Amino acid sequence: MDLGIIQLSEEQKMIVEQVREFAQKEIAPKAAEIDHEGRFPKEIIEQMGQMGLMGINIESEFGGSELDYLTYALVGEELNAACASTGVIFSAHNSLACGPLKKWASKEQKMQWLAPMARGEKLGAFALSEPGSGSDAGALICTCKKEGDHYVVNGTKNWITNGPESDTVILFATMDTALKHKGVCAFVVDKKTPGLSVGKVEHKLGIRGSGTSQLVFENVKLPVAQMIGKEGDGFKIAMSTLDGGRVGIAAQALGIARAAIEAAKSFAQERETFGKPIAQHQGIQFFFADMATRLEAARLLVWRAAILQDRGLPFTKEAAMAKLFASEAANYICDKALQIHGGFGYANEYPAERHFRDQRITEIYEGTSEIQRIVIASSVLKATQI
Ligand code: CAA
Repeated sequence: MDLGIIQLSEEQKMIVEQVREFAQKEIAPKAAEIDHEGRFPKEIIEQMGQMGLMGINIESEFGGSELDYLTYALVGEELNAACASTGVIFSAHNSLACGPLKKWASKEQKMQWLAPMARGEKLGAFALSEPGSGSDAGALICTCKKEGDHYVVNGTKNWITNGPESDTVILFATMDTALKHKGVCAFVVDKKTPGLSVGKVEHKLGIRGSGTSQLVFENVKLPVAQMIGKEGDGFKIAMSTLDGGRVGIAAQALGIARAAIEAAKSFAQERETFGKPIAQHQGIQFFFADMATRLEAARLLVWRAAILQDRGLPFTKEAAMAKLFASEAANYICDKALQIHGGFGYANEYPAERHFRDQRITEIYEGTSEIQRIVIASSVLKATQI
């Protein structure tokens, strides 16, 4: 994991060691069952809350661990190397739900909403996408109409990670679709609010232990005090939140890819063909060379984006590059890891097929690879120097 040129602090190294031990001892042995049963790993999330991992970047005054974003990425890699379902629950909660409250909420809102999430007592979700708007996030049609001291929300949100299990939802809705992205507002919402219900729950190819559902809002009354930022700030809040979220998904891709390489390595050192372990065949060795090179290149991009975020510097392009490259590297790595396993890789006796399925979503959620390319190209074309 050490990249040589980027020195981790003693604290970062210690946290990585602790989380790796926890992830390998407590999570990895359950990963196949969580996937097979499509079971939300409630007991693991509770343990992670007790370890301070559910408010990892949140200031201690609001119940968090106050660690930096590089540590968030390092921890994300460790958790995802054990179980990608657990990894995305961690990532959606920390980046997408705690993230916008940390950056945009008032002190009172943080005390009321963020602190219980950061302490691991409540689980968060982020409700931006809709049945008719995913990549074109500004085209959302869920409405919030102001009536006196509250807003009335109507609409359906789609593909919501932690949708079924969450307690607190960061909601994006529009005052007027004619205003396009300038009409979008952000709210923090208690899932138990009357009129808010869980709709269709998805059955997915991978990350099967993480709940993904619709959230349906029918005349949901939200006090003005639950708006995050001001009227019309919502789109910027969503976009800036996704910058951080993309680093988390890139770290997820790293974790899955690393686990796939490790599994393929132990298989290749055991399995013999033509009188020797397959790891001694050059055709297989070339796979390992390409897999490891892509993993380490991806890790450099992920760490760079996280370090820029820690320094308070712009990192939109770098987060998009990290997610694009890491997710496509993970696709390549998991495919080759499965190939190295031959027929065994296609059956669920080995983890290769789970890694292959889990990895695929990293190229889709929190902005598809095509959206990342739009974000990167727009920045490159505006830059005076490449
Ligand atoms: N940070 C802050 N503000 C930003 C921003 C950023 N990263 N990116 C754009 N903005 C601002 C712009 O400055 C602009 O503001 P002004 O009007 O004041 O100038 C405004 O937002 C509109 O920007 P664009 O014109 O670039 O917006 P657009 O409509 O063309 O969309 C897009 C740009 C990049 C394609 C965007 O729609 C996008 O990222 N789409 C993908 C959405 C996405 O990732 N969805 C995933 C949802 S979460 C999920 O996956 C589920 C889960 O639970 C895990």
